[in-house]
Amino acid sequence: MVRRKDQKKKQIKTEDDRKDIKSEESCYHSYADEVEIQCLRSDLLQWYDANKRDLPWRQLAKLADLNKRAYSVWVSEIMLQQTQVATVINYYERWMKKWPTLQDLARANLEEVNEMWSGLGYYSRGRRLHEGAQKVVNEMDGEMPTTAETLLKLLPGVGKYTAGAIASIAFNEVTGVVDGNVIRVLSRARAIGADSTSQHVIDALWSLANKLVDPNRPGDFNQAMMELGATVCTPKTPQCSECPLKSYCRAYAKVEKHKTKSTQKLLRKVKEEKKEIKNEESGETRYSEINIPDIECVTEGCRLCIPPDESWDSSQGVMNFPRKPKKKPPREEKTAVCIIVRQNQNGEAEFLLVQRPDKGLLANLWEFPSVQVNAELSEKKRQIAMDSYLREKLPSIEVSTQRNRSYIGEVVHIFSHIHQTYMVETFTVDFSETTCDNCHDNSDAQRPWKWMTKEDFTSSAISTAVKKIFKAYESLNGLPKKGSTKRKASGPTSGEKDKKKQMGLEAFFKPKPKTV
Ligand code: ADE
Repeated sequence: MVRRKDQKKKQIKTEDDRKDIKSEESCYHSYADEVEIQCLRSDLLQWYDANKRDLPWRQLAKLADLNKRAYSVWVSEIMLQQTQVATVINYYERWMKKWPTLQDLARANLEEVNEMWSGLGYYSRGRRLHEGAQKVVNEMDGEMPTTAETLLKLLPGVGKYTAGAIASIAFNEVTGVVDGNVIRVLSRARAIGADSTSQHVIDALWSLANKLVDPNRPGDFNQAMMELGATVCTPKTPQCSECPLKSYCRAYAKVEKHKTKSTQKLLRKVKEEKKEIKNEESGETRYSEINIPDIECVTEGCRLCIPPDESWDSSQGVMNFPRKPKKKPPREEKTAVCIIVRQNQNGEAEFLLVQRPDKGLLANLWEFPSVQVNAELSEKKRQIAMDSYLREKLPSIEVSTQRNRSYIGEVVHIFSHIHQTYMVETFTVDFSETTCDNCHDNSDAQRPWKWMTKEDFTSSAISTAVKKIFKAYESLNGLPKKGSTKRKASGPTSGEKDKKKQMGLEAFFKPKPKTV
């Protein structure tokens, strides 16, 4: 709103005026002054040196061997995509202990990689890392590409961000990076309020990041920007008073200006009420406000400003930036799941798991037999759908001896784009009818499958969603005792989906009083 008012005030009259406005436009959403840029770099790096977290990949990024260094940065950057630092630390340490070099990772098999990745989510990241290590070892003589351009071109799963991060942190290339944290820091710093997912905003942010990056310490500068976004310039609780960039930040200036204006308004009101404003004719001094200059973008129809139909919300302060388009709701999916149990010769329970296809969501991970169903299907019809799936995909499993078929309940898992409801049932089969232990025939009709003990299950490549299903099974039924698997219970119901936040595995596993 303020911006539009200003635009009206500022009439473009001549060609010269127009030129002036053009240059103002570029410095409103960018940095034009070289001295200011140098001060910003120096203040940010000083803050980073004093405040950076001691993270394991920051130690390894100092290794003398450049290939080891680049590999260690690569692993950390891939793990950190879409995953919190606190979660990554443990995975990173275990990974680097098991595969300290590119050669070690290249020798691993995909199953081991998926097992190690289990619980981190977005499994294609681990698969691509593995493929990339094999490519470097087998096709590039073990030598990592050393520039952002070649990393991007040659390595699978390495996008513009990861390429910039590896090149700057491991090889000191003077190149910027833009990830979620940097988008937030820069959008606030330069009051970029247009949709942060739109291409022109992304381009503007990359060009800003490349302009700001410190030529002497590019890797540290990039990490400092990300660190600032992760710890100070956070999405919901920004700590502006502690920010080393506050004096370079348009969002902060805007907030301060609004605060001062409202204080002045309040003061004036109080003074008016006290009748302290005297009539001008009486010759008394009138209460006067400090005139704060408006520092606003003056470009008509600017494509980086908050769109005119989504005005600045003063209750949000700096959190007005960045802006995302309204999220599409995740699509609803229902899947029938069957936990098939047998007892082995030691009386131990074993569960039938099937490997998912090697492409798409959760590729290659193990799951209980699952079939996507129509939301409205009755329990009976879901059973029919499951039976025909079992006959078609797992013909060598003899399920005709099934006993104690019962419904466990619903388990909800929210993927980034899918609201998935698993409708879980279970039955037991006789060991004597199922003596075959696994099948690795990868034809279309059959999927690889395995009988797994609980111990095997725990150490296999299993997604969080399937672990939840298993926890529900265990918590509601207990593991089957010898000779009896009769169970009836109701799991977490579809009501769970009304809860906004996705439950973690631990929270999910709250023992419920058993209903009979
Ligand atoms: N997020 C992703 N990579 C990071 C890094 N190297 N430092 C801080 N935060 C990050």
